[in-house]
Amino acid sequence: MSDPVVRLTINGRLHEVALATNVMLLTALRDLGYTDVKNGCEIGECGACAVFLNGEAVNSCMVLAHQADGAEIVTNAGLGTMKDPHPIQEAFADAGAIQCGFCTPGMVISTKALLDRNPDPSEEEIRDALSGNLCRCTGYGQIVSAVRLAADRLTGQSDPEDRIPLADEQAKVGGEA
Ligand code: FES
Ligand code: FES
Repeated sequence: MSDPVVRLTINGRLHEVALATNVMLLTALRDLGYTDVKNGCEIGECGACAVFLNGEAVNSCMVLAHQADGAEIVTNAGLGTMKDPHPIQEAFADAGAIQCGFCTPGMVISTKALLDRNPDPSEEEIRDALSGNLCRCTGYGQIVSAVRLAADRLTGQSDPEDRIPLADEQAKVGGEA
């Protein structure tokens, strides 16, 4: 018997794929080429695989692909591109919140989820919102600064001018590094 078909709209593009019922959404996304969605732990602990599923941030390693049948999915790459980054992605680059870049796509998703519901969060609220996203490199200080910078820019309290680009920052923030 052939595998049942699942319909996933990912970053605005519809995919219809036959998948075994036990395939996780993370695996399906990466197999379809959305490798900006990172595979860090596969047990819901690290947040690297976070995506928006019908507007809600979820860890895609904890969702069966068939549970997402008919859903709209947005990954980090669906928020912005290297040429046209989302203000949150730009803020991560500008604040030096990216080292290896592995955690960054999931951090960006969680940051957007936070700022959508709370445009002016306190440091405590930022740390709480990102508590499900692990980073091995930065020590979190620059990530908190990046979220604050993004919040300031999105609320018009800061301007993204006068910055010095870092090597590979756009590839890393886009999840392509
Ligand atoms: S890979 Fe999904 S939470 Fe770590
Ligand atoms: S920048 Fe390396 S894990 Fe966060």
